[in-house]
Amino acid sequence: MTPAILIEGLAKSYGGNPVVKDVSLEVPTGHVLGLLGPNGAGKTTTVKMVSTLIRPDSGRVLVCGYDVVRQAGEVRSLIGLTGQYASVDEDISGWENLYVIARLFNFPRRRARARADEMLERFQLTDVGTRAVGRYSGGMRRRLDLAASLVGSPRVLCLDEPTTGLDPHSRNAMWAEVRRLADQGTTVLLTTQYMEEAEALADSLVVIDRGQVIARGRTAELRARLGGQVLRIRPERPVDSAELRRALEGRGYAVALADEETGQIRLPLSGDGAQLTDVVRAVGQSDIPLAGLDVRIPSLDEVFLTLTGADGASQAQSEVLPARSAV
Ligand SMILES: Nc1ncnc2c1ncn2[C@@H]1O[C@H](COP(=O)(O)OP(=O)(O)OP(=O)(O)O)[C@@H](O)[C@H]1O
Ligand SMILES: [Mg+2]
Repeated sequence: MTPAILIEGLAKSYGGNPVVKDVSLEVPTGHVLGLLGPNGAGKTTTVKMVSTLIRPDSGRVLVCGYDVVRQAGEVRSLIGLTGQYASVDEDISGWENLYVIARLFNFPRRRARARADEMLERFQLTDVGTRAVGRYSGGMRRRLDLAASLVGSPRVLCLDEPTTGLDPHSRNAMWAEVRRLADQGTTVLLTTQYMEEAEALADSLVVIDRGQVIARGRTAELRARLGGQVLRIRPERPVDSAELRRALEGRGYAVALADEETGQIRLPLSGDGAQLTDVVRAVGQSDIPLAGLDVRIPSLDEVFLTLTGADGASQAQSEVLPARSAV
């Protein structure tokens, strides 16, 4: 079956500066793909290429089989876009924005009016429908943005950070709406900086950093693969940290210093009970006095930070990036 979105070897530079480098991914029809990455990773640039707003330098993007460069018109008729920044007109009312968009989709006047009413209702904006958008709150604007991108009943919806800046209530409402659309078969490409959002909405994830894919997989798999249990050991005297590490590394464990000041070290666990026993035995034999030892599951945000590492090096890359997977 033709995927709703197919991206192959996509690249884009600005002034000789590559911001998207060789990105490939596939979004099957009806799936929600979360494109996750820190500021400046290239998310918006990728979404803009998918939605025909900018041209790729190389590689190709097909939306429902149509090429975004050669068949941009067809692509535009199939997609909806909620950009990172509000794209609605501030000087006119919410209703007028929706009406104008419906007319641009060639709805006859009467149907365009009905569609504007319907969308206001669906996004709980009827009460403020006649008010100029310039006087909307951030949450209202975001909802109007989403409503605007849905006027033409798109088969593929691109959402660029749909909930940034929303309060928890508006965020949940937005999530519910996205889920409802996905359940009805709309394919969604969603960018976000929040693991939590990705986990709430996405069937699969692609993590990008500096224009490159650094991890991908089904959301639950990635979570399991990256977010497994971690054993944290804190020696009473920070100086003992090095010896503790040697003792564990000597038994073949991958150990990382988690905190210089306290000397806390971290060791990813495989989930095998015998392993934990062995680690504890090794620590016991080293006879180093401990201040703390616990097992915990890292939050998704921690996983994300590890992946995109503040030091720039995508430390976990080789470990988490399978050869071109189906995502
Ligand atoms: N029109 C442009 N001209 C020059 N550089 C640009 C342009 N648009 C984006 N960039 C640069 O490309 C890089 C990627 O930007 P992009 O907007 O795609 O990132 P992002 O992942 O969406 O980030 P954010 O989370 O902040 O929205 C950034 O370094 C940005 O400065
Ligand atoms: Mg962006």
